[in-house]
Amino acid sequence: MFFIQFNENKKKYIQLADYIKNMIENGSLTYGGKLPSTRELSEELKIGRSTVMKSYELLEMEEYIYTIKGKGTFINQLKIKRDNEKKSPQSVSINWESSINNYAKRAVDLDIMKWDAQYKKGMISFKSIAPDGDTFDIEGFKRAFYNRLSIEGSNLLNYGYAKGYKPLTEWLLEYIKDKGVNIEGKDILITNGFTEGLNLALSAICESGDKVICENPTHNTAIKIMKMRDIQIIGVDIKSREGIDTNELKKIINNNDVKAVFLIPSYHNPTGLVMSYEKREEIYSILSEKNIPIIEDWFAEELNYSGDHIKSITAIGGSNNNVINIGSFSKILFPGMRIGWIFADKELIDVLESIKRAMNIHTSFIDQGILYEYLKSEQFPQFIKRIRRRYKQKYELMKEMVEEEIKYEYLWGDGGLYMYVILNEKIKVRTLLERCIKRGVIFTCGDVFSVSNIQSNGISSNKVKIENGLRLGFSKLKNSEIKKGIKIIGEEIEEMLNNNSQKDSLK
Ligand SMILES: Cc1ncc(COP(=O)(O)O)c(C=O)c1O
Repeated sequence: MFFIQFNENKKKYIQLADYIKNMIENGSLTYGGKLPSTRELSEELKIGRSTVMKSYELLEMEEYIYTIKGKGTFINQLKIKRDNEKKSPQSVSINWESSINNYAKRAVDLDIMKWDAQYKKGMISFKSIAPDGDTFDIEGFKRAFYNRLSIEGSNLLNYGYAKGYKPLTEWLLEYIKDKGVNIEGKDILITNGFTEGLNLALSAICESGDKVICENPTHNTAIKIMKMRDIQIIGVDIKSREGIDTNELKKIINNNDVKAVFLIPSYHNPTGLVMSYEKREEIYSILSEKNIPIIEDWFAEELNYSGDHIKSITAIGGSNNNVINIGSFSKILFPGMRIGWIFADKELIDVLESIKRAMNIHTSFIDQGILYEYLKSEQFPQFIKRIRRRYKQKYELMKEMVEEEIKYEYLWGDGGLYMYVILNEKIKVRTLLERCIKRGVIFTCGDVFSVSNIQSNGISSNKVKIENGLRLGFSKLKNSEIKKGIKIIGEEIEEMLNNNSQKDSLK
């Protein structure tokens, strides 16, 4: 739009040319941009077409614009004054560091991607616990995409419902039912992965300062979410393969007003442990007696490749309404789609639906549609069989290598995508990591999973042995990398132990 006021002192075509020149020089008309046709501009400005033509001729002569026959008249780059373009109206500088709130500060402090050692190209990384992308059935995915889009058309591309894509929620309810869960009186809400699910659930039931119990150590993202919400985390230590000590749990709930308990019974992160059925039942009854909600993490239900499916706490809960099940397929299938769910009492889901709508309206419908189409296809069960075989083989190789090469105190991990190796306290895991990185091997140190003692620099002040561990993810590694990487870790530990014993003998 041109807002030009002509005066009587100068010829109109010159005034128009000056006006356009100024716009080009100050950057309001940008390089390559098309000018209106002479006819359009003459109509807009209510001046003769020949006036506009003369203006354009003048501008072209001075190389402000150029004409391509049959296409139009365009702005030339040469005349844009870069200095002018860059100049801001007034110099302003907000100090964002002091302007952000405590929630944001905690997010930065707890963001281990910002301060922990990071993978660099070429390294052997035991850090990742993402599924192996090579297992993804891309052809099946493409088919799912085309099929669902053909069936639903624009429905999948328009706004959808906060609770989720109906065919997917119905499929998931059947899936959950097949795992022995009573779905009467329950409902489901689709989330952006487990991570949003936990955020939503906590936002509905916890206020700042509330107490939530979880296993110590636990999933680092869960710690982050709780700390950001200013929730007081009470950790119950995992002291052995059997998981948390239920006497300690009882003591804590007797002495504290606890809002919820967060548990990862299957392939616990970081230890890889699977809680026994007896323990699940015992914990369920302890917490039920006190009417405490249990948040059960269902992120790895399909990774059970070495034994029978253990009844989940959600299933143990039967027709009761005190278990909030948060799940996702992120560890097996397309985590980039960010689809997860919360399965819980209908009343709670109804509340969560409103929170979800307020937060982000809904999870992507096209993604939910594709996932649904893939899950219901015959490829899905085949895919599960294939990945179980693949990860089992990697797990067995890892176990064999760690047992052979690493001097450890405990080796935990019942399958899944990672294992947890606890070292003698003489070996500081952070020092070991530094040494391994120099040799191109990286892993995650146990201290980042500590509930009570994590600091933003990642150095834990707690001397609890379990933190002196390394989580070794193996899902994406080739066999040759597993062999080489574990050997390097083993050699570094050996050398550190030798150095220690030399120091001891000099004392
Ligand atoms: C314990 C645990 N739960 C859930 C998830 C999956 O989270 P999301 O679905 O948000 O990717 C992970 C991923 O690492 C995890 O370790």
